[in-house]
Amino acid sequence: MDAKTGTNTKTGTLTVGDKSWSFPIYPGTIGPDVIDIGKLYAQSGMFTFDPGFTSTGACESKITYIDGDEGVLLYRGVPIEQIAEHGDFLETCYLLLYGELPTATQKADFDYRVNRHTMVHEQMSRFFQGFRRDAHPMAVMTGSVGALSAFYHDSTDITDPTQRMIASIRMIAKMPTLAAMAYKYNIGQPFVYPQNDLDYATNFLRMCFAVPAEEYKPNPVLARAMDRIFILHADHEQNASTSTVRLAGSTGANPFACIAAGIAALWGPAHGGANEAALKMLGEIGTVDRIPEFIKRAKDPKDNFRLMGFGHRVYKNYDPRAKLMQKTAHEVLSETGHRDDPLLQVALELEKIALHDEYFIEKKLYPNVDFYSGITLKAMGFPTTMFTVLFAVARAVGWIAQWKEMIEDPGQRIGRPRQLYTGEAKRDYTPISRRK
Ligand code: SDX
Repeated sequence: MDAKTGTNTKTGTLTVGDKSWSFPIYPGTIGPDVIDIGKLYAQSGMFTFDPGFTSTGACESKITYIDGDEGVLLYRGVPIEQIAEHGDFLETCYLLLYGELPTATQKADFDYRVNRHTMVHEQMSRFFQGFRRDAHPMAVMTGSVGALSAFYHDSTDITDPTQRMIASIRMIAKMPTLAAMAYKYNIGQPFVYPQNDLDYATNFLRMCFAVPAEEYKPNPVLARAMDRIFILHADHEQNASTSTVRLAGSTGANPFACIAAGIAALWGPAHGGANEAALKMLGEIGTVDRIPEFIKRAKDPKDNFRLMGFGHRVYKNYDPRAKLMQKTAHEVLSETGHRDDPLLQVALELEKIALHDEYFIEKKLYPNVDFYSGITLKAMGFPTTMFTVLFAVARAVGWIAQWKEMIEDPGQRIGRPRQLYTGEAKRDYTPISRRK
């Protein structure tokens, strides 16, 4: 895929002293134009400098569009609100992978293909035995997903489109199975095999919560909520974990290793680990009357405390997913009899106070997708250590769709950023006898 898909009639000029250089400007379908500075170093001997990539477009993509000022999120052009309302997660996977919503026949075929791959190699259950029972499930997921490349040699040739699609289907199908195994291993219960006549979310909840001693009774309200939570977390443009997957994939690493790298990046509390951190924070606040104390801490530049679940690099308006998560939280808490969960009251009051506080308004800090997900997942019966695992289950399709797009882009090259070096200039080796 070439960035010049649009007509790049515009150029931008950089002038330093008496020298100027011009670079092509490419328009997006919607959203900001980009200045192609690929030749800047060759022409000027200078690098750009943008730690954190606040103003840097690392790739061209057709998958997901975010308008942070308007609070807009589109999957292949379709608004997240409409998909969450009318679609299901596997339909969302098809849309992200193929670029169009499936026909009824295509949907049935895709569901069938995913269902044929929900089991993992039986040796994987022995792989799990090597972990401590109290290992964090994200450590188990990072290890076990990376280990998939040791089992599926027939889908690691990234130059073969058929193998790329098999690897994609396998990732979508096996993430829930591995996540449920990580949970069961952590709580000392036997693994539950997938049951392919169930829908994706029900199958996952059954693998997590069924026990051999009783018949499992699916709860359609919770399954619908789980499916919607997967939809909301499926993809999000070039976030930290997706950029990690793209960078790993640019070296030619196999897709399972790339997804394992994405899982590791997602684990951080500034990213996917924020849902676990947000619930811990709500628990630490405990009651509504302690909220002002924590708001004060969040505003204190000398205190590194932050309101977890608030703020976003791109959204400078309300994260559209947070609104849908709040709605899902109310549905799940009602269904599970936790309508009066004190943590929900703290979260609703904290949001209300923060959204009217000058500091948060000025810095454009709004609740993000992680603010309400923790309360919801806790009410569904998941421990906090599983929250980021569930995020990874959902995001696997986004990672694999972005990985495929990168591999299939004829213009893609290995990602290799440069730096601003401010270390020592060249100096000679000093023998130890002469060091002070
Ligand atoms: C996800 O990128 C994605 O798309 C990610 C994600 C996805 O779907 O993939 O959307 C998922 O990761 C959501 C974000 C989850 N993280 C959190 O909720 C952790 C708390 N949030 C922050 O750590 C922070 O807001 C980030 C990491 C999300 C964004 O960091 P930025 O863009 O680098 O912003 P910043 O840290 O430079 O903050 C800007 C200012 C700072 O103040 P000043 O230095 O300007 O004085 O806002 C302040 C920060 O101190 N600030 C906060 C705050 N977040 C930012 N102050 C209090 N509480 C917060 N939560």
